[in-house]
Amino acid sequence: MVALKVNKQLIDTPALVIDRSQLIENICNMQAYANAAGVAVRPHIKTHKCANIARLQKEHGAIGVCVTKVSEAEQLVKSGVGGILITSPVVTELKITRLLSLLPQAHDLMVVVDSAVNAGQLNEACKHLGMSLNCLVDIDPGVHRTGVSYKEALTLARVIHGHDYLKLAGIQCYAGNLQHVHHFSDRRRVSQAAMEKAAGVKKKLISDGLPCPILTGTGTGTFDIDSSVEGVTEIQPGSYTVMDQEYAAIEGSEGGGFRHFQHAMTQLTTVISGNHGSHITVDAGLKALYTDNTRPRIISHPGLEYDWAGFGDEHGRVTALPGFSLPIVGEVLELVVPHCDPTINLFDYFYIVENGQVIDKWPINLRGCSQ
Ligand SMILES: Cc1ncc(COP(=O)(O)O)c(C=O)c1O
Repeated sequence: MVALKVNKQLIDTPALVIDRSQLIENICNMQAYANAAGVAVRPHIKTHKCANIARLQKEHGAIGVCVTKVSEAEQLVKSGVGGILITSPVVTELKITRLLSLLPQAHDLMVVVDSAVNAGQLNEACKHLGMSLNCLVDIDPGVHRTGVSYKEALTLARVIHGHDYLKLAGIQCYAGNLQHVHHFSDRRRVSQAAMEKAAGVKKKLISDGLPCPILTGTGTGTFDIDSSVEGVTEIQPGSYTVMDQEYAAIEGSEGGGFRHFQHAMTQLTTVISGNHGSHITVDAGLKALYTDNTRPRIISHPGLEYDWAGFGDEHGRVTALPGFSLPIVGEVLELVVPHCDPTINLFDYFYIVENGQVIDKWPINLRGCSQ
């Protein structure tokens, strides 16, 4: 049990902490921006993997949520969260069976499709059950992760529309490779071009008499770019809820830092050894802080730097810049994590705080749902 009303410094570490007011402010800011731009928000919950946050997003105006995996959708349906879009193709018999077994409770479930073969598989499975499924054509804007080319999208849309048990619901075009393009002007140029091409496909579909109620895409880095492209109906950002160092490092639309959203989530880690003047050792290593190329930023103490430093799974090394002193054993450091999604997936709970006091503990109940 979490001890409520204690100062967050007393939480056992390593731990993820979310400032509730900042989280809600982020959710409200994104929703207000989308409302003003005339698009809906169907946030991607691959970031936080938490049904409580998904519910908060819906309470504040989100029309549903996006997930990547069928197992994530299963957890959300169990938690009563509807309006789910699965943003990655579902192709094996086993997964298709799992997917379709959700339909009786989740009629509005949608999935992206990126091949005629997959459309055929889904149609056959739906026919067998006598149920229909909403499908979006997944367009590849150049990442080559999933999706068909802009050109092939029209053909695939016709294939989907031609199946009796599939309902063509529109298009997804998500450019993950553009979210962290550093300069705003560069990001705007490339992301706008990618989305405008997808909007061109939508126009063509409609002029050919095919339905295309949805054009979705975008992440936190391009929310304010893609949502102004004519034809986009909804956006699917994820990281904006809690933020991380990778997003902190890109330029915002006003120049300077990316300050549209607050760092609502931090990690607490304790100094557990200090036998060397050169550094101290903390209890957060690779199993608490996912690493790619960015380092965490320590915000509780000035002039300190974290490094995994080959200390292994459970430990990290903290050094002090010239003129700054190292903390002592037992002290708690607070830091902004490098990359929120894969770090959150390492934890079972968020400690929810208000004015520095713990007010709740929320399960990260989709954590580990990688199937
Ligand atoms: C398909 C899709 N949509 C949306 C997002 C959300 O992006 P972000 O976390 O950058 O906001 C992701 C993240 O990887 C994604 O894969």
